[in-house]
Amino acid sequence: MWHLLYPMRTFLIVSGQGEEVNIMAADWLTYLSTKPIIVGVSINPHRYTHDLIKKYKEFVISIPSIEILKDVLIAGRKSGPDKLKHMSITLLPSKRIQTPSIKEALANLECKVIDERNYGNYTFFVAEVVDYTQKEEAFKNNKPNIEFKFMAHLAPGTNDFVTFGREIYRWDTKDL
Ligand SMILES: Cc1cc2nc3c(=O)[nH]c(=O)nc-3n(C[C@H](O)[C@H](O)[C@H](O)COP(=O)(O)O)c2cc1C
Repeated sequence: MWHLLYPMRTFLIVSGQGEEVNIMAADWLTYLSTKPIIVGVSINPHRYTHDLIKKYKEFVISIPSIEILKDVLIAGRKSGPDKLKHMSITLLPSKRIQTPSIKEALANLECKVIDERNYGNYTFFVAEVVDYTQKEEAFKNNKPNIEFKFMAHLAPGTNDFVTFGREIYRWDTKDL
């Protein structure tokens, strides 16, 4: 029944350093706190990324747009750093951590692990976001610009994705 919470936003998780740098796709990510900003991501222990996060205690969350769907699927269907040879992404130094960021991403959140815990067959990594970079046009006035085609995974186990429609629905709550 785990299709019930879908569609879910899809992210890229960059882990490792130097030759070991690896990228995987992840849907199971959430905010946990605003002061400081803390996030959590659920990662299966069979993923190569799992061991790299355990080793270096840091990772980058990169926000892809639908323009790099092929790379997202390589990241999400192949295992280990070798997959980067098949991807068309450019790694850039991050500001506050050693794990690199992705140039083509709409934003990169630099995360340091502060906790981890096993739930069922997954590990939930909890991390503080210590810095970030963003494409200014994609986040004008601290608001995502949906013209940049933020992507969401339609259903688990599929290669189907959706972007957000242009229509914005708003209801004035001051008279409620
Ligand atoms: C769109 C998408 C979302 C995914 N979300 C997750 C996730 O949240 N957690 C997870 O452990 N695996 C997730 N996966 C699976 C991993 O990305 C996949 O197993 C990947 O090959 C792991 O790479 P690695 O072994 O190099 O770390 C997802 C795959 C796709 C295609």
